[in-house]
Amino acid sequence: MSKRAANLVADRMSKKPSLVLGLATGSTPVGLYENLIALNKVGKIDFKQVRTFNLDEYCGLKKSDPQSYRYFMNEKLFNHINIDMDNTHLLSGVAKSIENECEDYEKAIAKAGGIDLQVLGIGSNGHIGFNEPDDVFHNRTRQVLLTPSTIRANKRFFEKEEDVPKTALSMGIGTIMSAREIILVAGADKREVMEKLKEEVVSPQVPASILHYHPNCTIFYVDETI
Ligand code: F6R
Repeated sequence: MSKRAANLVADRMSKKPSLVLGLATGSTPVGLYENLIALNKVGKIDFKQVRTFNLDEYCGLKKSDPQSYRYFMNEKLFNHINIDMDNTHLLSGVAKSIENECEDYEKAIAKAGGIDLQVLGIGSNGHIGFNEPDDVFHNRTRQVLLTPSTIRANKRFFEKEEDVPKTALSMGIGTIMSAREIILVAGADKREVMEKLKEEVVSPQVPASILHYHPNCTIFYVDETI
């Protein structure tokens, strides 16, 4: 799964060296990032001109915090490839004005020409980015309240559940859907929600179901642990 997803990313990078890449954190894309690092090391792909925008960041964590998504991205990808760090963008969870931070992020994406290829994982509750199940789809980047199920799912990265931040900043559904192409990676741990997606019912209670309306979305899903 990770290799195939990496090959797709590599293909798009070869077609557009200044690709604008949307990135996700979490366990699932780690294999994809390992494959990208390997391709970069042997000179098959070049990140020199690539620009990246991550989906989300926890509120209240500085970028030096090992649990922050900035720290995760540096560790799992950026420190190992020939990317210009100035071209890597993550929301700041400690910005003085959250409103400005979110607005500026949308502006920066637009200034870069929009996202060419967005990488997504999926939460067991169907979230993409930190767009949690709700009565409506939320359009743009904003502060979100994490659901108890997301806090429980993410506590594995923290010492105790109380340490998991209760809020985050996240690209909105509209921000994600504006990407020209989307790939979603999901492993066997997401079987239940992936089965739900197959029903093709689009509902904000399963935020990822909106992807049925995206004209260029590929899902890489392994339904067995191998
Ligand atoms: C992370 C993100 C989340 C994760 C999702 C799955 O940036 O946006 O939507 O993709 O929570 O996480 P894992 O892969 O850890 O199961």
